[in-house]
Formats: sequence, structure tokens, C-alpha cells
Amino acid sequence: MTRPLRIAVAGLGTVGAGVVRLLQENAAAIAARAGRPITVTAVAARDRAKDRGVSLDGLTWYDDPRSLASADGVDVVVELIGGSDGPAKALVEASLAQGRAVVTANKALLAVHGAALGRAAEAAGVALGFEAAVAGGIPVIKVLREGLAGNRVSRVAGILNGTCNYILTEMRVARKEFADVLADAQALGYAEADPSFDIDGVDAAHKLAILAALAFGSEVNFSAVHIEGIRRISALDISFAEDLGYRIKLLGIARETSDGVELRVHPAMVPSQNLLAAVDGVFNAVMVEGDFVGKVFLQGRGAGAGPTASAVVADLIDIARGCVVPVWGQASASMAQGEAVPIARHQGAYFIRLMVVDQPGVLADVTAILRDHGISLESMLQHGRKPGEAVPIVLVTHETNEAAVAAAIADVAALDAVLETPALIRIEPE
Ligand SMILES: NC(=O)c1ccc[n+]([C@@H]2O[C@H](COP(=O)([O-])OP(=O)(O)OC[C@H]3O[C@@H](n4cnc5c(N)ncnc54)[C@H](OP(=O)(O)O)[C@@H]3O)[C@@H](O)[C@H]2O)c1
Repeated sequence: MTRPLRIAVAGLGTVGAGVVRLLQENAAAIAARAGRPITVTAVAARDRAKDRGVSLDGLTWYDDPRSLASADGVDVVVELIGGSDGPAKALVEASLAQGRAVVTANKALLAVHGAALGRAAEAAGVALGFEAAVAGGIPVIKVLREGLAGNRVSRVAGILNGTCNYILTEMRVARKEFADVLADAQALGYAEADPSFDIDGVDAAHKLAILAALAFGSEVNFSAVHIEGIRRISALDISFAEDLGYRIKLLGIARETSDGVELRVHPAMVPSQNLLAAVDGVFNAVMVEGDFVGKVFLQGRGAGAGPTASAVVADLIDIARGCVVPVWGQASASMAQGEAVPIARHQGAYFIRLMVVDQPGVLADVTAILRDHGISLESMLQHGRKPGEAVPIVLVTHETNEAAVAAAIADVAALDAVLETPALIRIEPE
């Protein structure tokens, strides 16, 4: 058989140990598909004494992951340390500079430095694989870069963070508030001790920036993504959403509009008959719309040792086969600037929930403000009446623009009868 492809794995945590195990357990099938064995020869992590549940016998250990860029007996470096800078970036840059192919699951690194790393890989003529960086086991990078390469993509919309989807699902099913479900999720290991990257939308935004670059042929630009998380979603809003025929999901959306491409991560009202609405728990899903293919929908596990290792190993098999595709689907020099339309120019319908003192004239004041800002209402909902007490009122607008809604909400919030900051959730069409 042909010479094995020799792999160095930097980082032996959840994903790194999973990759080593997958390459060991499925070695025969992988060798048959790749045309040659794929063998781990070297590893690096911080703690040499830690039991990682996989055999590291016969592998060369390096304390400094950067050594793998030039270590003997290595063809491909697999970076599974994480973080947009620090040792992960140093290792990937050094490996590419040495003409060594790289596979990584590091969305933060790709989202922030992906354009420069793509140019470095291109200059070296080597692969930079990152299938595992978006939606774990779902092969969405390959779908966008290869399977749909003939299409003009008009929209990518996805549930890109399993932690947020788990929390929103539990809030709906168990009718609990955000803070209680977050605490449960942390106890179950579905949420990190510091959950802010997940629940504030940053992790989903990293992934969206990567998907948008592939979908629209523009340089990856994380700073162009508008980001809102799920901290302010209440059980009340989830219940009103159900009454109106929607589910609330944290979506990452990259959409072509007449003004340019929108890049946004925020909680959204998704019609309950939409495929994305039915994706519950820790699952991820991505919908891509292309001009010739129509809608393509992918769903699966977005994290965990097995699904993420599955994606890393798919990239390794491509490299073993000798496939080198452009990192971002086309030559770096042919890519557009990664600009996005400001959220203030977003056009769409909105869900607005107010808590008001139930007294005569409040609704008239609110609707007058909306009218003055040119906003028309599709429906209005009020559950129960408690004269003199706080009651929720829900307003659903027709299509309007974000700047008008923001101005109207500021005026509404200033009314004496309006008790708390109004909740505002964008409604996503089919
Ligand atoms: N977990 C998932 O489900 C998932 C899914 C998709 C993508 N990813 C991405 O995959 C990457 C790895 O995630 P993970 O969950 O596997 O992380 P993890 O469990 O925290 O593992 C990180 C590994 O990196 C090692 N490491 C950290 N700093 C190091 C340093 N300075 N020098 C050498 N080694 C160092 C750690 O060594 P020690 O073990 O010795 O401490 C550990 O083995 C991240 O980019 C993440 O975003 C993860």
C-alpha cells in the first residue's frame, strides 16, 4: 500500500481525543477510502500525565504545540487547541509557512484570521481544512464549497449553537425562565461554566462569518456580523410566539438583499411549519438557498467528540486522496470585501411585547406612535385583563425597517404606562 499520511494532533481534549479514537477504530475503512492509511505520529497538549481515554503508545509527545510545524515524520498538522490567537494561531501560521497542510476545528481562528490564513495556504499550495469548525458533524462546508458550487446563493440560515438551541427548547417545553434552564444546562454539561460565548451569540457569529464567506465569495469578516444573544428571551415571549404560530430560535442569517449582504445573529421568530422551527435540543441545522438548486436543508449534531472528529477525519481523507480545493471556494484574489449592510437598514416584520399598566388610552397612545413612524400592524394580542395592573401586549408589525422600529420603540418605552424595556424580536420569513 502507498505510504501512510502522517498526522500530528495538537490538543487532546474533547475533539483531539475523539480524532485519535476515530482514526484508530475505523482505521481499515479510512485506509480503503483514503487509498492509504492515516496514522497519528505525534501529539501535543499541556498535561502529559492526563488520561485521555485513548492509547498514545508509540506517539511522539511535544510540550510545545508549535514544534509540530517542523517536527520530523509529519505531513499534516491538526490544530484542536482552540482560541482565535495564542498557540493555535502560531501553530497554524507556522505549519502553513512550512508548506504543511492543516486541518482545524477552530471557528474563532477562522472567523477572525481566516482571510490571511487562506492566502497563506494558497501561497504554500497546501490544504487548510475546517469542516469541523461549523456545525460539528454536519458537512456544510463541503456542501457550500463543492456540492452547491454552481449556484448563486441568496440565503444561508442556521441554528449554529447547540447550547442556545437546547436552552430555548427547554424554556418552551418545560415553561421555565432562561436563568433556570441555563443553570440546568451547566449541570448537565451542555453549557460551559462561562457560557457567554454561546449565549451572547459570539460562537454562532464565528460560524456565520465562515459560512457567509463561502456562500457569497467574500472575505471572512467577523466584525461585520450583527450579534445579539438569548439572555433577554423570556418564557412569556416563547409562549406568545407559540400562540402566534412561531418558535423562537437563535439564528445565524446571511442574506443577499438589494442593498448588499446582511450578516446577523439574533433570536428570531420562525414560522412553526418551517423546517428550522422543528430542530430542537442540542441539534444544529443549516438551510441554504441557491438559484438552481432551491432550498437544501441539513441537520445533525453540531458538537461533541464523535461528530466533530467525523468532520476532522473527512478533511484528512481528502488530503490523503490528494484533493486540494481553494480554501474559501475560490482564489483569494477573486474574493470581494466582506462587507455587510448595517442592521439599521434591515427590512422585515417584528414582534414587539410591552408590559403596560392596564388603563384606558394606553393602546391608543402606542398605536399612534407606531403610526407616526410609518409602522402598520398585522395583529395584536392581549391575554387577560387586570385593570390597574401590568399586562403584556403583543404587537406584530407588517414589513417595515429596523430604524423606524427602533425609533418607535424608544418613544413607546418613554410612555408612563409602559413598565419595562419592550421586547423586540425579528420575524424571519419562510
Ligand atoms: N467540543 C466540541 O464539541 C467542538 C465542536 C466543534 C469545534 N470545536 C473546536 O475544537 C477545538 C477544540 O475544542 P475542545 O472542545 O476539544 O477543547 P478542549 O477539550 O478544551 O481541549 C483543548 C486541548 O488543547 C490543549 N491545550 C490548550 N492550551 C494548550 C497549549 N498552550 N499548549 C498545548 N496544548 C494546549 C489542552 O491540553 P490539556 O488537555 O493538557 O489541558 C486540551 O487537550 C476548539 O477550537 C473548539 O472551538 C469543538
